[in-house]
Amino acid sequence: MTDTLPAPAGRAAGGDVIVRPARPRDAASFLEMYASVAAERRFIRSEVVRQPVRDYRSQFRRSWNDEGAHVVAVVGDRVIGHASVRRDEHPVTRHVATLGMAVAADWRGRGVGTKLLSEVIRWGRSVGVLKLLLSVYPDNEAAIALYRRFGFVEEGRLARQSRKSHGFEDEILMARWLGEDQRE
Ligand SMILES: CC(C)(COP(=O)(O)OP(=O)(O)OC[C@H]1O[C@@H](n2cnc3c(N)ncnc32)[C@H](O)[C@@H]1OP(=O)(O)O)[C@@H](O)C(=O)NCCC(=O)NCCS
Repeated sequence: MTDTLPAPAGRAAGGDVIVRPARPRDAASFLEMYASVAAERRFIRSEVVRQPVRDYRSQFRRSWNDEGAHVVAVVGDRVIGHASVRRDEHPVTRHVATLGMAVAADWRGRGVGTKLLSEVIRWGRSVGVLKLLLSVYPDNEAAIALYRRFGFVEEGRLARQSRKSHGFEDEILMARWLGEDQRE
């Protein structure tokens, strides 16, 4: 359930990256990382993070269950990446789970997103989810390249779906099937 990556060159302190289900004590550091990605205003829907730490502390108590997962990448006590995935509640869409992820700006392009996404896929298979779904902004080249590399394909585009501080943005829907047979 855990995986390690070598620390990037020139990063003596901090040690290796560990990817694992989130724990309650990760909540504060996670929120700090998430707020900094939100403040970039470009990549994720949120531009400001308002949820209190206690909400995540409580969610991180059951971070890997039938309904969803929170996976973190940590270096020492610092959360440098996070992926969350949540299964649909409706009986006819129970086979679908929606995911989101973020890596701290100073750790991007070093394989952290790859490890997080692998864990999300492992969670999906372990609970019988057949389809992973996500939405991404059209100009988020890094994310789209990562998802394509994992076999996600575009399934549609929601026009002016997000109203960001700089204006409307379309969202591209991408999905990856985890079942054996595409039409099963
Ligand atoms: C998208 C994101 C999660 C990817 O995480 P990451 O740790 O940087 O990804 P990795 O280092 O594992 O890279 C995996 C692949 O992504 C693609 N990729 C990563 N950075 C890229 C870049 N700057 N340009 C183009 N492709 C890129 C490549 O295909 C790469 O594979 P390769 O190394 O074999 O070429 C990260 O960039 C991020 O957090 N961005 C801001 C938040 C965000 O966009 N979240 C997703 C919203 S849908």
